[in-house]
Amino acid sequence: MSNGWSWFIIILTLANIAACWWLLATNSKRKPGEPAADETMGHVWDGDLREYNQPLPLWWMMLFYLTIIYGIGYLILYPALGNYEGLLGWTQTGQYEQELVQARNRYSAIYDRLAPMSIEELAADEQAMAIGHRVYVNNCSVCHGSDARGATTFPNLVDDDWLYGGSTDAILSSVVNGRAGMMPAMGPAMSDEAIDSVVQYVRSLSGLEHDAAAAAAGKAQFAVCAGCHGMDGAGNQVLGAPNLTDNVWLYGSEPAQIREGIVNGRANRMPAHGDLLGEERARIVSAYVYKLSRDANATP
Ligand code: HEC
Ligand code: HEC
Repeated sequence: MSNGWSWFIIILTLANIAACWWLLATNSKRKPGEPAADETMGHVWDGDLREYNQPLPLWWMMLFYLTIIYGIGYLILYPALGNYEGLLGWTQTGQYEQELVQARNRYSAIYDRLAPMSIEELAADEQAMAIGHRVYVNNCSVCHGSDARGATTFPNLVDDDWLYGGSTDAILSSVVNGRAGMMPAMGPAMSDEAIDSVVQYVRSLSGLEHDAAAAAAGKAQFAVCAGCHGMDGAGNQVLGAPNLTDNVWLYGSEPAQIREGIVNGRANRMPAHGDLLGEERARIVSAYVYKLSRDANATP
């Protein structure tokens, strides 16, 4: 804060305190010409209602003075007056750092025990899974759902169907580095008819209702897709190209939904969480997801 503002705040604060004191002091004395404490003010209401000129109760005045004294003490001890730092040397960052050290001391014993464990071992550890659940709820549930079953464009983490693989390493990599699934727009390079037939072919791969003649024609068109989705349409986990032969759909299986993806392409992003979580918590939440997918009936 600049010196000017600092002085502005100091003067304003002290002037306010002085004004409060002055107000209390002047109002607790009888003014010249006022009736004495045990005399009435001279007005009469409703025939017999009279008003005494009593001073404010002493205990009440004392409370006011005490709050003022308390306030002054506070201003001397803590950094409340402009740039003045306070006698106690208290700072917000100091308090934050102190709490951080306390938290670290409290949890370091737990993390020391978990650090040497593999992700499989963490998944079998009750305490690690309790931490993993909390990390999941705080960081992942907004996108993947509180039950981890996902939603349109957000993959289900509970089923055993993976875009990038369900090994401990693949899950950890998804969490730490994030993922960016990219399917280019194929619309400009394909005729409308070719797109319609490849849509029918894609539906035939997973046994959905389809036009058999169109699907047969679409099989040839699928050559341009096979580079990513595989000749048989079973997907490619290196690229995050989904398996098109199962009944798990990120974007929906309706012909219009499949068509839209082919025409406009798809781009999806899982943000990297490595820096946010730190290594230990990233490993623990990966173990938590790994356990969920192993134990598909578990409800988080
Ligand atoms: C902002 C939304 C968002 C958040 C937050 C988020 N994810 Fe994701 N996650 C996604 C999306 C979208 C994908 C799919 C990316 C793609 O299609 O390329 C994904 C993919 C994944 C995958 C790969 C799934 C597969 O089938 O291979 C895993 C594992 C995963 N997330 C775990 C997590 C965990 C654990 C957290 C919390 C630490 C988390 N995600 C937080 C959006 C999110
Ligand atoms: C360059 C690689 C690439 C090519 C070529 C490609 N795709 Fe994809 N496709 C992907 C990726 C990656 C995704 C997942 C995008 C995401 O993570 O959201 C995807 C998603 C899809 C989906 C959505 C699946 C679901 O679960 O909802 C369909 C359907 C699909 N592709 C069909 C096709 C068809 C048909 C073609 C050919 C006309 C094609 N793709 C060509 C990479 C490709």
